[in-house]
Amino acid sequence: MHKKLLIVAHQPSANTQQMLDACVAGSTAAEAENVSISIVAPLDCQPHQLLAADAVIILTTENLGYMAGATKDWFDRVYYPVLELKQGLPYALVIRAGSDGTGTQRAVESICTGLHWNLAQPVLVCKGQWQDEFTHQCFEIGQYMTAGLDLGML
Ligand SMILES: Cc1cc2nc3c(=O)[nH]c(=O)nc-3n(C[C@H](O)[C@H](O)[C@H](O)COP(=O)(O)O)c2cc1C
Repeated sequence: MHKKLLIVAHQPSANTQQMLDACVAGSTAAEAENVSISIVAPLDCQPHQLLAADAVIILTTENLGYMAGATKDWFDRVYYPVLELKQGLPYALVIRAGSDGTGTQRAVESICTGLHWNLAQPVLVCKGQWQDEFTHQCFEIGQYMTAGLDLGML
């Protein structure tokens, strides 16, 4: 059966763009013929796109101790339209934080718990000075989520 992976990404900088690119590269590397990938900015992501998804990767920055405002706006708009229909949705969370990330992780996990979504991978917090390893970690998230969908493991 065909599966859809939705990546909801807020990438306001060159580094965060690299993180998104690495997620997509990992997803492509999974060579899953039965999985299609869509990338959408949170401000553009409508409930119907989420309703059509079989798994989601959320990529957000931490700003002022919390998820990006764009990511919060997305949750605000999709929460009730999908609440009853997407329980059990597998998700992964990738955070880029200058120094912390805990406020964002706590808030997103709390919302996703309310939605009854399932965290499919340990949360990836890429914090501190930029490290090339971040792209490798993002690659693995994309690869895992795509392969997991393809193999029916998620
Ligand atoms: C207005 C603003 C607020 C920020 N607040 C935080 C914060 O509370 N915690 C944190 O770890 N990083 C914070 N950052 C850093 C961003 O998370 C980081 O710059 C962003 O993820 C982009 O990463 P990059 O600078 O490597 O491109 C903030 C950045 C801006 C512009």
